[in-house]
Amino acid sequence: MGYRDLRDFLVALEGRGRLRRIAQPVDRSWELACIARWLYQAVPERERFGLLFENAGAMPVVTAAIGASRETYAIALDTTPEGIIPAWVRALSHPISPVRVAQAPCQEIVLTGRSASLDLLPIPIWTPGKDVAPYLTTLTITRDADAGFQNCAVYRSMVLDERRVVVNLNPGRHGWRCVESYLRRGLPAPITWVIATEPAVHCAAVANVPYGVDEVSIAGGLKGTPVETVKARTIDLAVPAHAEIVIEGEIRPDDRAREGPFGEFAGYMSQAVERPVATITAITHRRDPLYYGYISQFPPSESTTLQSLGNCGLVLKQLHDLGHASVRDVHIDLTYGGLLAHGVIAMRPQYPGHARQIGRIVADTTLLKRVTVVDEDIDIRDAQHLDWALNARYDPARDTVLVSGTFSPADMDPAVRSEGREAAGSKIVIDATEKSGAPPFSLPSRELMDKALESWRAAGLPPIEVPRRVDLALARKK
Ligand SMILES: Cc1cc2nc3c(=O)[nH]c(=O)nc-3n(C[C@H](O)[C@H](O)[C@H](O)COP(=O)(O)O)c2cc1C
Repeated sequence: MGYRDLRDFLVALEGRGRLRRIAQPVDRSWELACIARWLYQAVPERERFGLLFENAGAMPVVTAAIGASRETYAIALDTTPEGIIPAWVRALSHPISPVRVAQAPCQEIVLTGRSASLDLLPIPIWTPGKDVAPYLTTLTITRDADAGFQNCAVYRSMVLDERRVVVNLNPGRHGWRCVESYLRRGLPAPITWVIATEPAVHCAAVANVPYGVDEVSIAGGLKGTPVETVKARTIDLAVPAHAEIVIEGEIRPDDRAREGPFGEFAGYMSQAVERPVATITAITHRRDPLYYGYISQFPPSESTTLQSLGNCGLVLKQLHDLGHASVRDVHIDLTYGGLLAHGVIAMRPQYPGHARQIGRIVADTTLLKRVTVVDEDIDIRDAQHLDWALNARYDPARDTVLVSGTFSPADMDPAVRSEGREAAGSKIVIDATEKSGAPPFSLPSRELMDKALESWRAAGLPPIEVPRRVDLALARKK
């Protein structure tokens, strides 16, 4: 039932031919990120693999293993690509709380005081020549001081020196709310960075679940078994017991510094802004740890892939919870993650205006910028089919809803931010469902097409795979 830790997953990934080892020495100040960038820019999504740099510093460095593609993400959840959304819907419906253990592999070595130095870790520079420093790009755990629950997400953290990092806690984010709950009482806020644990935790951390829902419980639901956690050594937080490395720290009131510029998921460099500074209180790790960092920056990336795939199940579940059972499927484009991206919804409209209503709900309740609604006979992961639906079933003047004055997350939107002032963003809803009175498809019957497949084979033409879009079109009754 799920993987116990990252290394368990890497064995499975390698067994499926989806992990490549790089044995030659690699410079993590530029070369590692540039190689990983080629993976996303030049290798087609279906063929991508995770990268294990065996010789990049004090320990091996892994990137892109979970979020290389839909397929590696599916392997991370121990399912198939088609099983990703059902796995998410199950996990959200039946989260499993973590269980606390007394001894943990992630604490085989415990370093505190001056020994807890970030210099020990091979932290890469992700946009060589442009990022101001190496960055931790991994899981971050915080706690709400009032309610007591923990939050797990990814907030990039810039290395200031061997004992301090600046954490990009964007105001409004759940980690920011947790930290604020301590700071406004004048107390230091506990924070940890978890470098590589069972992949379900990594997948759960970047889905936009409501504040108060512990992503580690969702990870338990994704695994089908509880995540084991252990108490951190110097702060009051529980961390995944099977992690490779855990960095413990605290954010003290009024300790702030400039963070960035850093290459962001949206494809542009960020501007430097003031953010909280965390001081490291301990580093604990396995005897022979692996380092993991997500590659983000110019899309597509591991960051956008993880966020897109995690948020699809969440959107579908939310629509079902609102009673819209005729919504069948959700796809979010892999180039922009759950934030500011394009979401496509497949459904069977039940009444006039239903598709627009669904599009509007999704636009209002998610961080997506564009929402397109199509019928359930469209393969929403097939760009050719989606284009056809837009060309054949969408009348821009009639079927578009523009939503203006959306503030969240306008500050992250390069299209708005580049205006150089604080501006609101906007969203678009496109209803590309078939309107009544459509004539029959200009396609022969399935019976004739199946017979013609036999003729195709008999003629010795090269083998063909029937695309899902054709299957869907041939299933139409008229
Ligand atoms: C590599 C990577 C880096 C990220 N960096 C940040 C960041 O610095 N700040 C931020 O607000 N979100 C960042 N995110 C997105 C959040 O982790 C994600 O939206 C998460 O669901 C937010 O969790 P929350 O809703 O608990 O705040 C990053 C995601 C990834 C994969």
